[in-house]
Amino acid sequence: MSKFKIAYLPGDGVGIEVLEAAKIVLDKSGFDAEYIHGDIGWEFWCKEGDAFPERTVELLKNVDAALFGAITSKPVKTAQAELLPELQGKGLVYRSPIVRMRQMFDLYICHRPCKAYKGNALNFKENIDIVVFRENTEGMYSGVEFNPVPEELSALLTKLSKPFAPFKDIPGDEFAISCKINTKKGSERIIRAAFEFAKKFNRKKVTVVHKSNVVRATDGLFLETAKEVAKDFSGIEMDNANIDAMTMWLLKNPFNYDVLVAPNLFGDIISDLCAQMVGGLGFGCSGNIGDKLAVFEPTHGSAPKYFGMYKVNPIATILSGKMMLDWLGEKEKAERIEKATAAVIAEGKVKTYDMGGSNTTIEMAKAIAEKL
Ligand code: IPM
Ligand code: MG
Repeated sequence: MSKFKIAYLPGDGVGIEVLEAAKIVLDKSGFDAEYIHGDIGWEFWCKEGDAFPERTVELLKNVDAALFGAITSKPVKTAQAELLPELQGKGLVYRSPIVRMRQMFDLYICHRPCKAYKGNALNFKENIDIVVFRENTEGMYSGVEFNPVPEELSALLTKLSKPFAPFKDIPGDEFAISCKINTKKGSERIIRAAFEFAKKFNRKKVTVVHKSNVVRATDGLFLETAKEVAKDFSGIEMDNANIDAMTMWLLKNPFNYDVLVAPNLFGDIISDLCAQMVGGLGFGCSGNIGDKLAVFEPTHGSAPKYFGMYKVNPIATILSGKMMLDWLGEKEKAERIEKATAAVIAEGKVKTYDMGGSNTTIEMAKAIAEKL
């Protein structure tokens, strides 16, 4: 029997290719796992009306961790049109499987390291080493949305939101509502995770990203909670910045930043920005982490236009695999994978198209595996 059970969720498009590549490296590292394939993705939406079928939910209840590729999502109308005829008109609604997975399994930490590996010509600057902690279950991703807006909600909001009620007397199908919902518990646990990480890895500073000067209720709560949590971590400096200013300052002086913690949507945005500073989405790795389960995935999407070409960079997924090993306590193997990846980047001989080369996804994986 293998030591670990891993759900293998390739999803769509290049998700399939990068997972195949990551597995080459994980196998070569000696990671002792049984991989169990899980159905997930666009195909299952079209055929079954659910991109994240119940059997895959069940699978995730019985594994130690999961590796996830990427999933294609399409606009509401296209999604409806691509359903099998017998599934149409049943009121099925497409929701991103990864977002559902994060909520369903309470994977409240989104951990996204952004490290500039030496010699990567795509680095914005050398030595950038920023770690993003993104709240992963609530905020703008709560999924509490209305379009059209029911009359009773519209009436209630008109009553409560004086003096500014732009929707007063507007029919419910002419406006839409997406609720940003933040709880103290949800804010506290992600902020605590960021500080715990800083403490464990000897990081000096945690910067709280928000927009509390305008979005006062939810982001105000987030910032106030951060100030309370910071008191438990006396050796670590806490500062904070509005999301808009943060994007400028990150580009102006990335070395002022160490660990960032942000509510869901801001964390989504800022983690793409930070990934770009260390080589782009081909290098953006991530872990969705809860108390019982964790799902590791590259930050990039399914890139349908590249599907079948085996040309995308698998490093984001390989490093996500490395994060999975860390989380499972396989530290030594994790470290070897990171070193091998860094060595291939530094050597600059094997490069995928994004790095200015022409090596395939699999050639990159094999080059890394050879160095293990
Ligand atoms: C990410 C992605 C997802 C998100 C999409 C694919 C739903 O952008 O993991 O950052 O918005 O969280
Ligand atoms: Mg994103």
